[in-house]
Amino acid sequence: MFGFRKRRAVKRIIANTLKLLLVIYILIFVVGPLVYKYSYSLQRSVIFLNFVNIPPNPDYSDPPKYGIYGVRNFYLTTDDGIKLGVWQILPNRLLNKNITMDENYYRKALKNGQDVIIYNHGNSGNRIVAHRIELYKVLRKNFHVIAYDYRSYGDSSNIEPSEVGVVNDSKFVCKWVRSVTSSNIFVWGHSLGTAISTHTLALLNAENIVPTGLILESPFNNMRDEISEHPFSKMFRHLPWFSYTIIEPMQENNFTFQSDKHITKVDCPILILHAKDDMIVPYYLGEKLYKTAVANRLETQGKVHFHSFDENLNYGHKLICRSPELEDILKQVTFDNFIM
Ligand SMILES: *[C@@H]1O[C@H](CO)[C@@H](O)[C@H](O)[C@H]1NC(C)=O
Ligand SMILES: *[C@@H]1O[C@H](CO)[C@@H](O)[C@H](O)[C@H]1NC(C)=O
Ligand SMILES: *[C@@H]1O[C@H](CO)[C@@H](O)[C@H](O)[C@H]1NC(C)=O
Repeated sequence: MFGFRKRRAVKRIIANTLKLLLVIYILIFVVGPLVYKYSYSLQRSVIFLNFVNIPPNPDYSDPPKYGIYGVRNFYLTTDDGIKLGVWQILPNRLLNKNITMDENYYRKALKNGQDVIIYNHGNSGNRIVAHRIELYKVLRKNFHVIAYDYRSYGDSSNIEPSEVGVVNDSKFVCKWVRSVTSSNIFVWGHSLGTAISTHTLALLNAENIVPTGLILESPFNNMRDEISEHPFSKMFRHLPWFSYTIIEPMQENNFTFQSDKHITKVDCPILILHAKDDMIVPYYLGEKLYKTAVANRLETQGKVHFHSFDENLNYGHKLICRSPELEDILKQVTFDNFIM
């Protein structure tokens, strides 16, 4: 008698647990994707991650607080009236502790001389983020660096980002740098910033503005493939409605970031850097972009180089800046092969 009742209780617990699991499954795998499909702002947040502000309470006007000296913090206002926060990072060669490096010193320093790199960061955070500062420190050994935040990032205007919007900001910064210096200009993009850079150069090309070179660190070929491969979407990928609820809506909302299309219109040499252990943007998407670029390229557009970094180096998505080879890779590409 007692045993029978106990068995019934166990059965009930199992039935309730299964019901609960079913509800959870439906919430995560059915309701979740449907909410995603119909929420433009959720898609936008996932792509730009601009709400992730690290470090907290950043003080852009105090670079030494973040371990970097010889940096001028200033603001640009775009044609659309958008304020962009910018850092001008002097090349090591122009650091001079003996004099006060005032605004005038910075302006003159940028005007002519050392090659300039414009840095287009990836999603989340701002121009202060540690791995970005680590890269500036490597780049400043041979370059002047201009790093800035797109709209909605850092202390730039808090305006909803879109692909066209951030590309507009990037275009503006390129044109501004072109107007204040006669030095060579290179554009460097990381992650989402590679898509922004490539799109920007394709548009600038139509205005006959072409930089000396484009450097793509950990790039993907287009957002459709990147979203399918991203670790966040892995658990949804098996769903028959994955494409309908996750992939297609982002295409319809113009979050396409088609670097594989735009790269064919980039008329300067390109260097692609990708680590084989990249978990965020899989290595093979960088390779795919490379192959597309090569297959569609005229000789007059300049060469495309691909440099891979082995898994055992553990550079992942963000730490190619730690490669002791990086300085030489850049030198070789910028100073030899870029001359056509
Ligand atoms: C700064 O001053 C010291 C001492 O006068 C001098 O040796 C050094 O070369 C100066 N550095 C620069 C970058 O001018
Ligand atoms: C991008 O720039 C163009 C041309 O300046 C402008 O017409 C358009 O409104 C801008 N779009 C966004 C989203 O900022
Ligand atoms: C996407 O871009 C097209 C063409 O530029 C435009 O007509 C459409 O309104 C845009 N859709 C969204 C959701 O921004």
